[in-house]
Amino acid sequence: MKKIKKRGVDVLIFDGKKEAAREAAEIIAKEIKKNPSLRLGLATGKTMMPVYRELVSMHKKRKVNFSKVKIFSLDEYVGTDKMKNYLQKNFFDNVNVSGGNINLLDGKAENIRLECERYEEEIGVIDLQILGIGKNGHIGFNEPGSDFKSKTRRVRLSKITLSNKKNLPKYALTIGIGAILRAKKILLVAFGESKSEAIRGALGEKSENIPASALQRRKNVIFVLDKEAGKELK
Ligand code: GLP
Repeated sequence: MKKIKKRGVDVLIFDGKKEAAREAAEIIAKEIKKNPSLRLGLATGKTMMPVYRELVSMHKKRKVNFSKVKIFSLDEYVGTDKMKNYLQKNFFDNVNVSGGNINLLDGKAENIRLECERYEEEIGVIDLQILGIGKNGHIGFNEPGSDFKSKTRRVRLSKITLSNKKNLPKYALTIGIGAILRAKKILLVAFGESKSEAIRGALGEKSENIPASALQRRKNVIFVLDKEAGKELK
């Protein structure tokens, strides 16, 4: 593992995805041990699959207890419950998270504006926010151009985000960059060459064109990468 510090961000670069996913899971478990009632913000996507697998395996070995952890989802496609189903299948069904502690953005809400306002209040301050990153540098569904103070809202997804994915709604709900930046600790995970440019951008010049660059120069931001995702970093 190689550790570098860039623009205030601790960057851990692992040879393989599996080791990196294990480290991400260890960081999450450590925070839960310190604070069993942790307010934990969760991401979805392919990247997070091996991280959830590690957490499930640690839970089975009684190394982590989710019974008091409060869960918050990051985003949802409008009119669907894709993210909810993903988290249910890959995580909630396999650990001891309590149903009453799960807070999700409802993509099927009748009144989207009210749903966003409700969630913004509910989310408050997250203790540990987990993030993936889009190829264009998005975090959650905060696409390039998003205000760094943005709140929970409905967004139109960019062409890059929708490319190669069939039958996806063009709109999504996402927590804003504001709530992400309020989090006490942030862990961003990225694997593979297809994310290397976004990672370089996130740690390059700070700009609203690269939403993940909002994470720079803040306390407690960790990037966990495999070497392909980190290959453009010097
Ligand atoms: C998606 C989601 C994010 C996710 C990211 C990366 O669009 N909104 O929550 O972290 O993009 O997804 P993946 O890991 O599948 O590349």
